Amino acid sequence: MTRTGATRPHPAAPPGVSSLASIRPFRRLWIALSVSGLGHWLSVPALTAMAATLTRDDDAAARAQAVGGVLVALLVPAVLLAPFAGTLASRLDRRLTLLVADALRFVIVLSVPLLDALPWTFAAAFLVACVSVVWSAVAATAPAGLVPDELRPAARHSAARAMCWPAPVAAVVFAFVALIAKGTFGEGDRADLALYVTAGVFLVATAGVAALGEVPGTEPIGTPSPLRILFQGPRQQDVRGLGLAVAGVSLAAGAVVAVARVHTGHLGGGDAGYGAVLTGLTVGLGFGLFLGPRVLGPFSRRRLLGLAVIAAALALVVVSLVQNLVVVAFVTAFLGVAAGAAWSTAAVVLAGDEPSEDRPDAFPRSVALVTALVVVAAVPPLAGVIGSRHYDLGDGDYDFQGTGAALLIAALLALLAGLVAFRRLDDRHGVPLVADLRAALHGRVYTPPEQAVVEDRRVARRERGVFIAFEGGEGAGKTTQARLAAIWLRDHGYDVITTQEPGATKIGMRLRAMLLDRETTGLSSRAETLLYAADRADHVANVIRPAMERGAIVVSDRYVDSSLAYQGYGREQPVEEIARVNAWATGGLVPDLTVLLEVPPQTGLGRLSAPADRIESEPNEFHERVRAGFHALAEAEPERYLVLDASRPQGELSREIQYRIREILPDPIPAGTEDVTSTFPIITD
Ligand code: TYD
Repeated sequence: MTRTGATRPHPAAPPGVSSLASIRPFRRLWIALSVSGLGHWLSVPALTAMAATLTRDDDAAARAQAVGGVLVALLVPAVLLAPFAGTLASRLDRRLTLLVADALRFVIVLSVPLLDALPWTFAAAFLVACVSVVWSAVAATAPAGLVPDELRPAARHSAARAMCWPAPVAAVVFAFVALIAKGTFGEGDRADLALYVTAGVFLVATAGVAALGEVPGTEPIGTPSPLRILFQGPRQQDVRGLGLAVAGVSLAAGAVVAVARVHTGHLGGGDAGYGAVLTGLTVGLGFGLFLGPRVLGPFSRRRLLGLAVIAAALALVVVSLVQNLVVVAFVTAFLGVAAGAAWSTAAVVLAGDEPSEDRPDAFPRSVALVTALVVVAAVPPLAGVIGSRHYDLGDGDYDFQGTGAALLIAALLALLAGLVAFRRLDDRHGVPLVADLRAALHGRVYTPPEQAVVEDRRVARRERGVFIAFEGGEGAGKTTQARLAAIWLRDHGYDVITTQEPGATKIGMRLRAMLLDRETTGLSSRAETLLYAADRADHVANVIRPAMERGAIVVSDRYVDSSLAYQGYGREQPVEEIARVNAWATGGLVPDLTVLLEVPPQTGLGRLSAPADRIESEPNEFHERVRAGFHALAEAEPERYLVLDASRPQGELSREIQYRIREILPDPIPAGTEDVTSTFPIITD
């Protein structure tokens, strides 16, 4: 083997982030996108804070509306212009688009504190958002152009992360910048610093993209319209209530963002308080996104989704009523966790069990975006209409702000959405929620008592006896070993039934004659499979099951695996279909142990003394396939199999089989019993 010094990924290793990180152009683009992403997320609090500062002398209603106006301007392009952005971005050079997008955003953001006017702040927010839509379309796809084909899905995933992870960082940076500004700037200029920092970040991003080499990519960029996706509904149409759940959780999170700047002002915190609440929300969201698919493994994901929405709504109730900034920031973080968990759970529910390459979250994304737009447009005016109330409660005062009231209304609507969504999504009707949750906390799926009784009975019935099957090709010696095992078990006092396939019952004898008679010609493979399955159904119903229910040990010479190996692998028919037919024929009865004796077909066939029957007369390739089939079956379920080389001495094989059988006996025979008592009879077959 030659070594080049470079570490190569293991060929079997799944393509992943570690392989991506070793591709230099990808890594550099990823960093540049992360910096742009930081600017993108910073622009949200920076521009809204600017609107609040510019309306600082107006009443709370006007301030709330100004902040809401900026948020609307930031969201409208994402909802309405996405398809155009995709078409435009497809026609342009990827690197140049990223470069121009960052440079434009630098200039626009920088102009806001310089012009210092509310209408321009709105216009700037709209323009920044328009540029960001084109930027996002390119940023989501460009990294995939820098990696080999097999790494493209991972590159797309990683690009999405580069755009999202800076959100909590931006909130923290904003909070710090606001603190610094508070100590150094006059009241009217406090929001300027955050805008300068945002512009600076975009400038760094521009330099980062300028330093990149070519970013190839000629394939069209598809950015479907969120409104169209919304009206088409989820891909999995049966997921009733999912849209409502996502809308509920977006309503809760969106309402906080919509009024946070003004509400935190009422609670005595300026921009820094606003930054703290946004930090709580975004850090919580990130944590919740991570937690969603991992938490409470055995618990129904659909139930979890409904519960997460209800939890987010309840958190918002607390946020709306409590008048302490620290508590509000912490409870908002909890709201973020619930919202993030709801989001990732919705994606899991939509994706089902099938890992899919195309984004399962397109539908929830559209619902969230459109809901957020409606919320930021409606909640601030609602707060203004309600206005503030002052209550004199004797011992103390309670100031009920319009923002708090609007949050409470949003919380109640989100709660309603959560409750309805829970009902609709629930896939465990009638299973008590608390017991279900408690069991999931212990890593179990809750089984209602009545169902448990039925299952216990089934298990008890199944577990009364023991079922051992011997399998192998022709002349492997399984008949001999099955008999030896039965004698050994009887010697230890067990009630043992020895039986075989085909032909253990009266009907079975007739079927056996048909199946093995060389005079039977032209029997189709399917008919042969069904005849063996019919023999087996009769065998299980009339011999095996009654014996097991009595508590006996059943030792069978051949069982289902023979059909899988001979009719499946040997006759080259679909093995899964044969397994399904046999599962039905046997009522799902599976041996506790299957002893597989392996022998090369030539050796095995050479051992036979009687004239070859219909199956034995098959060509050597058929028997080779059968042997390989048995082997594959054993490999797929190693815990149920004991695989032995049948060319070994008979005594050795018997001993190994006995050791293995001991492990599954209801009342195990202590190892070494025979050595101590010397009562083991000498068996000759
Ligand atoms: P049998 O005389 O019982 O011989 P063996 O000692 O090999 O078990 O013959 C059974 C034949 O039937 C054997 O060649 C394997 C074949 N067979 C199938 O093809 N499918 C099946 O499901 C079973 C049980 C057996």
